[in-house]
Amino acid sequence: MNGESPFLVHPCGPPGTDLPPVLSWVDEEGGALRLLDQTLLPGRLELRTCRTVEQVWEAIRSLRVRGAPAIGVAAAYGLCVATRDDRGRARDEFLEAARRAGEYLLTARPTAVNLAWAVQRVLARAADVRGAADGIWSAMLEEARAIAREDAETCRRIGEAGAELIPDGGGVLTHCNAGRLATTGIGTALALLYVAHERGRRFQVYVDETRPLLQGARLTALELSAAGIDVTVVCDGAAAALMKSGQVHVVVVGADRVAANGDVANKIGTYSLAVCAHHHNIPFCVAAPLSTFDPAVAAGEAIPIERRGEEELRWLADRRVIADGARCYNPAFDVTPGRLISAIVTEKGLVKPVTARNIARFLG
Ligand code: MRU
Repeated sequence: MNGESPFLVHPCGPPGTDLPPVLSWVDEEGGALRLLDQTLLPGRLELRTCRTVEQVWEAIRSLRVRGAPAIGVAAAYGLCVATRDDRGRARDEFLEAARRAGEYLLTARPTAVNLAWAVQRVLARAADVRGAADGIWSAMLEEARAIAREDAETCRRIGEAGAELIPDGGGVLTHCNAGRLATTGIGTALALLYVAHERGRRFQVYVDETRPLLQGARLTALELSAAGIDVTVVCDGAAAALMKSGQVHVVVVGADRVAANGDVANKIGTYSLAVCAHHHNIPFCVAAPLSTFDPAVAAGEAIPIERRGEEELRWLADRRVIADGARCYNPAFDVTPGRLISAIVTEKGLVKPVTARNIARFLG
């Protein structure tokens, strides 16, 4: 237990044991969001229980919960946490409290559209319910649970749609973490690997460590090795040489937002992988649920890119690695043009070629 933490911390098994759910709703004390604190992985497995909307906001902002789909689910449950004690209020007052909580949660992180998508979905459900606040709140919780359940189903479908892209005996490069730890299911990009592995394919996965927060090294390596998949961590700068040496046959990454023209925002460093893959004639694939598509954004330039604090670069673990005199620039995401993407794997199949027309068709 951490005496200084405002959260209730639930210690769980040592690293290497089965990972607990990334997120779950717990009914105790009127309802709360329990999440696996990913900032501590792989060294410590700890669950935190968020009992206020501020705690949910902080968990999203500080990447205790992260990855576009998981952020959406956390925000959906966050609305229920926020309004749990407003159930005795008049209907209009309750709806106003929910709306304000939604606006607040949207400020946690700007790039992954799943956050806004999930908040809008829960608020729309709330507005549809006639009657008293208590019933509206129950419907909101039901909707948040549905979003979590559907996310898990969607991940499985993405994996099944894209598993054939993983070559038996080949090498796969991935970046950041678009796996179990980023969703309520088997992930998006990593879902392709899990399903291919289930189907008996054997392949070598290279994962970029993904500076500065090391989601590749800390999270992807953890979950793939726990699943018995052969995984090797490389420093981000090694990817181009790895492609040149012929060890990479496909690159697979996730997405935080897909614009109407197919431009994709994902973890910083994704764009340079796409450029290198194009240069070496290696397929570059993105895996994302349709909830990550944002038809309201025409092209990548309009996607808001999160800028994070200097300290994430300046410190490596507890060591200062950059002199005080130097500034740091720390965008969390970049945008890869759709023309560099071979296919986007969705729960409805492959968007290929990646064009505005094909995307519009998928979004129906
Ligand atoms: O900053 P993070 O760790 O939330 O960034 C995550 C990514 O960039 C993932 O690739 C993306 O959200 C897809 S997760 C299925």
